[in-house]
Amino acid sequence: MSYELWKEALSLFAGGVNSPVRALVRPSPFFTAKGEGPFLITEDGKKIIDYVLGYGPLILGHSPERVKQKIKEQVDKGWLYGTPSRIEVELAKKIINHIPSAQKVRFVNSGTEATMNAIRLARGFTGRTKILKFNGNYHGAHDYALIEAGSAVSEYGITISKGVPEEVVRTVTVCEYNDLECVERRLKSENIAAVILEPVMGNYGVIPPEDGFLRGVKELTSTYGSLLIFDEVITGFRLDIGGAQSLFKVVPDLTTLGKIIGGGLPIGAITGKREIMESITPAGSVFNAGTFNANPLSMTAGIATIEELENKNPYTEINRAAEVLADEIDQMIKTEHVTHRIGSMFQFFLGVKDVKNASDAKITNRALYLKIHEMLLKEGVFIPPSQLETIFTSTSHNDEVINITIDKFKKVLGELA
Ligand SMILES: Cc1ncc(COP(=O)(O)O)c(C=O)c1O
Repeated sequence: MSYELWKEALSLFAGGVNSPVRALVRPSPFFTAKGEGPFLITEDGKKIIDYVLGYGPLILGHSPERVKQKIKEQVDKGWLYGTPSRIEVELAKKIINHIPSAQKVRFVNSGTEATMNAIRLARGFTGRTKILKFNGNYHGAHDYALIEAGSAVSEYGITISKGVPEEVVRTVTVCEYNDLECVERRLKSENIAAVILEPVMGNYGVIPPEDGFLRGVKELTSTYGSLLIFDEVITGFRLDIGGAQSLFKVVPDLTTLGKIIGGGLPIGAITGKREIMESITPAGSVFNAGTFNANPLSMTAGIATIEELENKNPYTEINRAAEVLADEIDQMIKTEHVTHRIGSMFQFFLGVKDVKNASDAKITNRALYLKIHEMLLKEGVFIPPSQLETIFTSTSHNDEVINITIDKFKKVLGELA
């Protein structure tokens, strides 16, 4: 049973979990025994409609048949070679085919590793040290990214993680999202190696870029000789098969990927312009290595997932599911709020009218959001346990599932009114 496991977990893991956001689930985390389509089946035998979807990777829902089959076939062939394999070539070709900025690829094992290596690469390539990031953008859990970061970092009230050396903090400068003037000031006055950003913020609720913001940052980085890194760990293959850069038609120098490209298995990738990528070892001297880089099971799940996206082009369908749900919720909430949706990602912010950056989102009524999360979970619907995360839909969220969810929201919001 979940509660007994939770009590045991508290004695085994810091805070009872292995990734902090999981501890926020109210009244206490449920333990999952199985994932099936749009559902999580808990250790208590409860079937829950899942809008968290592993925090983004599961664009086809849980355990999609063809991906599962391909993983099983790969298991029969072994799951770690320590040599190159055909499947890494295949997955890299798909990424290069779809992502406009991708000319060469380095596979790693997480989004964290991808952004950490992209930052090192930008520094090595430009010979500069400073990085410009945005308040509330989350780029994983490494030292250069844990400064004014979103997601659980902010949810737990951490501005700069303890343990990050001051020397490191001094190499990172921060602007508010959508503030082009700040970007220009910093690029002018500080010798910046790279600007890294989420092309759509997905770790502070959902906050889209304002018209012209991405293009403006692109123009400024090229004017001042800095590199532009799009962190598309969430948006890559989700907003469009070519990622946010395809949707917004702004092509960065480097792109970091993760989540969907591994079909739910651990993965990360750095990709971008050929001449920059050539700086990575062994072609160049910006070091990267990994025992599990280009892991065969992750490659296989990634290929099978992208093939489904290529063959079925499900974007209209998953976007529509998110649109119907987001619009219904937006109309049901009678107090002050704003809902942001882009494609199959959305979030509602309570107690505020306008959210264009992390500072606006910080003052939303998070306690009320958590209450809604808790009451929905009792009704069998799982939305993220934090206002700062994203609600995702998948190809498995059909009309029936969406309609049940709308009814549950009606009930919960009615009870709260
Ligand atoms: C935009 C973005 N970048 C990087 C990361 C880190 O990825 P991982 O959790 O795979 O290390 C995340 C994780 O949520 C993310 O959303």
